[in-house]
Amino acid sequence: MLAGLGLVDWGVVARAIHVLAVVIWIGGVWLVTMVLLPGMRGKRSVDWIQELEAIERRFAPQARTAVLLVLLSGLYMLHHYDLWDRFTQSQYWWMDLMVGVWALFAALLFIIEPFVFRHVVHGGAARTPEVTLTFVLWLHRVMLMLSLLVIFVAVAGSHGLF
Ligand code: HEM
Repeated sequence: MLAGLGLVDWGVVARAIHVLAVVIWIGGVWLVTMVLLPGMRGKRSVDWIQELEAIERRFAPQARTAVLLVLLSGLYMLHHYDLWDRFTQSQYWWMDLMVGVWALFAALLFIIEPFVFRHVVHGGAARTPEVTLTFVLWLHRVMLMLSLLVIFVAVAGSHGLF
């Protein structure tokens, strides 16, 4: 209604983009962790390595775009609602957690995955496929659990539960 009067609340638009990007990104992590990786157990290592590479090639750019959108929309909300001082107040611990998990994912996707992980995992997959698959699966499980926790506390915190 306000949009019709030219009074769009861009903070709300940023919030909607923030949540949409989180859904795309963490939804993808859920699918990889809970469906695709467990389905690779029992397959020949050459097959699952190829499959993992194909998934990585397709999902990584989409996840990177979503992660950037989460950052930009989050920064916009901080600026728009002038929320910067929350980082100095302990009652907003969930904001620190949100940014911390973002930084962890960003480091994984932009630095560790392309420059370190790819070589280590692919080398390990050739030598000890079972151990490598278990490691990749556990890494995804930990990241997924952390993300779900952040989504819960961010919605709860934004709407006054803490
Ligand atoms: C640098 C990274 C991030 C920044 C700067 C940021 C910033 C923000 C801000 C300012 C809010 C609004 C708080 C309020 O209204 O009280 C918010 C809400 C939220 N954020 Fe983030 N965030 C970031 C990363 C993340 C991540 C990694 C996730 C999830 C994995 C996430 C999920 C959410 C959710 C679910 C909400 C609540 C939306 C609602 O219910 O209204 N954010 N974020």
